[in-house]
Amino acid sequence: MSQKLWKTLAGAVVVALGAIQLIPVDRTNPPVQKEMPAPPDVQAILRRSCYDCHSNETVWLWYSKVAPISWLVSRDVREGRKDLNFSDWTASEKQLRRLAKTPKEIAKAKMPPWFYLAIHDDARLSPQDVETLNRFAASSTAPAPKPAATPVAPARSTSSN
Ligand code: HEC
Repeated sequence: MSQKLWKTLAGAVVVALGAIQLIPVDRTNPPVQKEMPAPPDVQAILRRSCYDCHSNETVWLWYSKVAPISWLVSRDVREGRKDLNFSDWTASEKQLRRLAKTPKEIAKAKMPPWFYLAIHDDARLSPQDVETLNRFAASSTAPAPKPAATPVAPARSTSSN
């Protein structure tokens, strides 16, 4: 290809990149409604590794303001919050079911997503973190023990899916 054509192409790419910056992207943090109750050690892990996508306290870093990356980040946050929002805790069936999936999601190495870890090395979970989260997920989604009638509630495993 001629040098002139390369220059024209490069120019077109620069213009296009500039133009897509004008497309509005939702980067809002709605108010925190009700924080999910969790012990401090669990809180610390969730805040470090999960809150950017699963809470209303997203930290929007510089790359989240540059299209087209901003589109991906915004979509992840939207989808993440929809599934599981630690800032809007209603303990609904849906959220509890999702929380119960946490061990599986972590084991499959899906959460936090790899591309997020590539930028946020500090969000990496240690084996100890994983254990803490898994124990929390199991205890939070276990059915509440029946009052009075049975002195010791039988342990029931939560079946996901
Ligand atoms: C970069 C954003 C991001 C981070 C950080 C993140 N998640 Fe997610 N999470 C998502 C998105 C997007 C979805 C929904 C789509 C999907 O399942 O991949 C999701 C879905 C989930 C689900 C539901 C899966 C299902 O199939 O119902 C669980 C559970 C979950 N995340 C747990 C976590 C936990 C625990 C952490 C922290 C250790 C975490 N996530 C960190 C983006 C993120």
